[in-house]
Formats: sequence, structure tokens, C-alpha cells
Amino acid sequence: NYLGLDLGTSSLKVLIIDENQQPIATATAPLTVQRPEFGWSEQDPASWIEACRTAIAELKETHGAALTAVEGIGLSGHMHGATILGEGDEVLRPCILWNDTRSHREAAELDDEEARRITGNIVFPGFTAPKLAWVRRNEPEVFGRVRRVLLPKDYLRLWLTGEAVSEMSDAAGTSWLDTGRRDWSERMLERTGLTREHMPALVEGGESSGTLRAELASEWGIAGRVVVAGGGGDNAASACGVGVVKPGTGFLSLGTSGVLFTAAESYAPRPETAIHTFCHALPNTWHQMGVTLSAAGSIEWLSQFLREKPAELTGTLGESCEASGRLLFLPYLAGERTPHNDAAVRGVLVGLEASTDRRDVTRAVLEGVAFSMRDCLEAGGGVGSVTRLVAVGAGSRSAYWLDLMANALQCQIALPAAGDFGAALGAARLGLVAATGADPAAVMTEPPTARVFEPRAELAGAFAEAYGRYRSLYPAIRDWQAR
Ligand code: XUL
Repeated sequence: NYLGLDLGTSSLKVLIIDENQQPIATATAPLTVQRPEFGWSEQDPASWIEACRTAIAELKETHGAALTAVEGIGLSGHMHGATILGEGDEVLRPCILWNDTRSHREAAELDDEEARRITGNIVFPGFTAPKLAWVRRNEPEVFGRVRRVLLPKDYLRLWLTGEAVSEMSDAAGTSWLDTGRRDWSERMLERTGLTREHMPALVEGGESSGTLRAELASEWGIAGRVVVAGGGGDNAASACGVGVVKPGTGFLSLGTSGVLFTAAESYAPRPETAIHTFCHALPNTWHQMGVTLSAAGSIEWLSQFLREKPAELTGTLGESCEASGRLLFLPYLAGERTPHNDAAVRGVLVGLEASTDRRDVTRAVLEGVAFSMRDCLEAGGGVGSVTRLVAVGAGSRSAYWLDLMANALQCQIALPAAGDFGAALGAARLGLVAATGADPAAVMTEPPTARVFEPRAELAGAFAEAYGRYRSLYPAIRDWQAR
């Protein structure tokens, strides 16, 4: 058996598959995000280990035999987080997450022609290097003690294996990687006062990065050697889970963040569009993606605000979307990456009426996120550049939302039959490849489709008009929100 471990922003998921890739057991443990100041978003790395212990203990209880038979593990996790470790690999401060925008000033300082040439990307405030520049400027005593910086899932790997290792897909989101050459850039490290010595070793996603520590193996009831694969950042891992490895294929992820991801023909960065170009989890492959910071995150916010579960909020809308209403929502709860790269902007709800109720607001929130994904599509190739996207992430449980996405993006949205396994399944598949040497192309296939959502011609006019209004709102509010 093979185990995929996906460290998400709101929960950690563990999935065991058998040698035919059939899901046989799964467990989830919740995680929280701390927001102590405006624009900050942090997690305590100890909570990841705790969540992992909880999820594995549950599996041991419910599917002990399946766990005992695990031969390979793959890791996936939220990207870009700065896990800062000292001399004895102790955590020096809470991890600064991907949707933390405090380092906007440092990001702007680093984001020049040289950085874009080496990394293939804008240096966004959410990426790792500017966070270290922020720590250097604001917490010099912490910076002075930095022994190494690890991405979130790689910190879990250090705990699981004792090895400090990363892999290309996640490393590409640091602004320290030469993305075309798939190696650390000494120049970019030097620009934040670091060296290669501060970085973990690099492997490809389907290569071994070490083996499960004997102590954990015996705790989990495993007798044999367990290979831990490089794995992938959650987006590359999701791609592996839904078979998006061949050029021309793509997926739409509705997790806390929203991602429109396409597998690329070759390494061809276009940083000026705010599209991210990263290494894929398989050797010599790359991908592109547009990222909105609050997708299911916007629904989570609304759900907390209205004290009603997300599924109940979206459930009242039915399964088939209506033409856009008059209420407009900009989902910039944590600022925005694609296409605006704006750390200061925040969400707005425009067009409230005396009769506006929770149903109207839920619809507007779902629409706002759909239009923000349309912005990602426009920043990439535009309508028609992708004809089909596989849906992943918690938000894909809402049929209404997927129908809305098909109409906003003017493309087919395919919902996999197996449920929301994307990143955990991709991680498990990378674990399988590392443990068995199987051909990745044969392993990373598209799972069976449960349902396909198609754009409807009669809604096209209304959606085009509403998207136009959505587009005009950001320039109108940008200046009064700028700090
Ligand atoms: C991608 C990104 C998010 C995180 C969290 O660039 O920041 O998608 O990986 O899921």
C-alpha cells in the first residue's frame, strides 16, 4: 500500500491506496490559522505534527492492516510557507503562510528583472524569500539564528525521516530556485542574506528523499522499510492526482486558495502576467497557474460570519446556476495574486439592498470567486485556451459552484468520481513511484469522471456583462484601500 499525506491550510488529510491505486482508507485532522495582525497568516509547525499523529492514530484504529502494509509515502502541502529552524532544527517562530502579505515591501524590493529572469516569476509577498527578508529586517535576533528554512510539508518530512529535503515543485515557489535549471540560485539566496547551506537537498517528486524513521514505523505498526518520496507542493500533487501531467490538460482547485493550473509544453515563463510558472513534480516538466488567495476561503469566511456550514449555505442554491445577480463580491480577503499582485486590497460586497438575504450573499460570493478564476484564465491564454478542467478541492463538492465555473470560464468542468482526493492521491501516487520505480506516466492517469458541467449558451450574455462589471470594480476601489 501507499500513503499520501496532504498538509492543507484548514486540515491535514491522509489517504492509503492499494497497488491498483484504489483508495482504501482516509483520515482528516483539522488545522487552524492564526492572524495576529493585519495581513498576517501563521501556523505553528507543531500543530502539523500533532495533526499527523491524530490522523495516523485514527487510521491505525480503523484500518490497522492497511497501514501495516504501507511501503511508500508521498507528501503534499500548502506551498511557500517559511518554516524557520535553528541550530538543533528547533522552530524559531510560527510558520509564515502562503496567504500572508506582510512582506509586500520586501517582495517589491526583490522583484526586479534579475529575480524574474532567474525564478520565472514575480516575487510575490506570499513567496518564501521576501518573508525571510522581512524577518531579517523586523526580527533580526531570529534571523541571526537561522540554520535552515523548510517548506511546510518538508518540515513534516524532517520529522518523518530525519532528512532535510525538498523537491522541485514546491522549491519553485520560494523565489530561491532557478526554475529552468531546477537548482537553488545562489544569487537569489545571497539577496536575502542566505546561502545554499540554509537550503534542503533537492529531489524530484517521484524520487526517494529518505525512509520513515524506525521509531515511527514501529509506532504505526509497520515492519518493513518505508520509502518517503519527494512529493509535491499541493498544486503539483493535485495535478498528479487527477492526471494533469500532459501539456494541454488542466485543473481547477477550489481549496482555501483558488488555482487554475495547466501542464506546460516546456519552460516558458511570463511573469508580467502574474501567472506562476513552476516545476512540475515529474522530471523535466513545468506547469503554469493563476492563483486567487481566497476561494473556498471566502465561503469559509461567510460560513463563520453567518454561523452556517458551507455545505448548508451552498446547498440552498440548488445544483444549477442562475445568471449573475446585481450583488458583486471581490474575494480579496487576503489581498490578491493573479492578476493584480496587490497585498493591500481587501474584499468588498457592492450592491446591498434592503431585501438582500443570505442566499443572495452566498450566490455573490460564489460568483466573485468564479470571476476571480476567470481573471486567472484571462491572464493565461483567455477563454478558449483551455477546453476542459478537472475540479479538485473542498469547493468541488458544490455542484452549483462547478456549474457556475463552467459558465464563468466558458469551458467544461469535470468532477472526478472518487471524491475530493486530489493532492493526497497525487502524493500517494508519487510514493508509489518512488517505492516501486513504476513509470510515472502510467501512474498519473485521470480518474473516472462522475459528472461534466458545460457552459450554457443562454447564460453567456449575462455572464459576460457581469464579468465586465466585476472587472471594473477593482480599479474603482484600489486606491482607497491602498495603505
Ligand atoms: C499556490 C498557493 C496556494 C497554496 C495553498 O501558489 O499559494 O495554492 O499552495 O494551497
